[in-house]
Amino acid sequence: MSRKNVSDWLLSQNRYEGESRFSDKKLEGKATTISITAGKGGVGKTSAALKIAKTLAAQGYKTLLIDCDFNLANTAVKLGLPVNDDFSALIKAEKTFEEVVHKDGQFHLLSGCNGNLELFENKLEFEKIILDVIVGHEREFDFILLDSPAGLQKDTLTINAYSDYRFVVVTPDKSSITDSYSLIKILNNKYGVKHNHLLVNKVSSLGQYQKIVKTLSETIDHFLGGRVNVLGSIGYEVSAVDKFDQTLFGSANSAIHKNFIKVVHRFTEENFGTLISSKEKFEMPFANSRSGKQDVQPTIC
Ligand SMILES: Nc1ncnc2c1ncn2[C@@H]1O[C@H](COP(=O)(O)OP(=O)(O)O)[C@@H](O)[C@H]1O
Ligand SMILES: [Mg+2]
Repeated sequence: MSRKNVSDWLLSQNRYEGESRFSDKKLEGKATTISITAGKGGVGKTSAALKIAKTLAAQGYKTLLIDCDFNLANTAVKLGLPVNDDFSALIKAEKTFEEVVHKDGQFHLLSGCNGNLELFENKLEFEKIILDVIVGHEREFDFILLDSPAGLQKDTLTINAYSDYRFVVVTPDKSSITDSYSLIKILNNKYGVKHNHLLVNKVSSLGQYQKIVKTLSETIDHFLGGRVNVLGSIGYEVSAVDKFDQTLFGSANSAIHKNFIKVVHRFTEENFGTLISSKEKFEMPFANSRSGKQDVQPTIC
């Protein structure tokens, strides 16, 4: 079967129902796929996707991050890499995957483009392109992470549903909570996805975090019969609004860094236990950080 036919066949299968079979995938030597997603933009998907991918890579897991915001790609920008049209060249088969992927140790990035006119003007079956990349390279990686664009476009939802796991990023404002619930509802109603992970970003207090988790998990359980596994919270770094990326990736002693280590640890322990033998632990010196107030009451409509 050609690559094209493989993605067509995969998309025709209703493989979304039921639990993820991470143990089977590991035994088959295939990468575990994780979509970092949310209904809303600006909640920290790209930041979280990059940090989680870098953390997994630093722990020894061969990790590929795919920027699925294929014409408004931010991952390369956040890493200070030059933006280019490589993704477009890959689609046109002018360059190979190996030629376009950025490598840094075990971390690999397939970036999108930024305002590429050809990509803008041509109607692409984006979910098939991403599935082709996954199917073509899943045996080379331990993890493939997908940084989702904002919104409820069908191609993004299909990729979210196809992934083994979905990390839904939510912030304390009402629109983020409502939009995350809408995303989870559509994934449930259209694709039969019953299980998601929750990462609460830009949190100001423990009480705020607990309230969001309680509200969302109870609503999802009650109205959709679904469940969420809570990955943890990341503090709101008001002291570094324009320097957030530096704090995120710097070798500083930040609370953000510690919290991402906990998030990744919780996920790998919960899902893989002893399946993946313990790899070299990620060590970094930590710096101080200050959290500010974000006084919004989480509610679900
Ligand atoms: N915990 C946080 N504290 C402060 N600023 C944050 C935090 N997480 C993300 N940001 C900032 O919020 C903005 C949106 O983040 P980004 O990761 O691009 O979100 P998305 O991919 O969901 O649009 C960026 O300016 C980023 O630096
Ligand atoms: Mg983004």
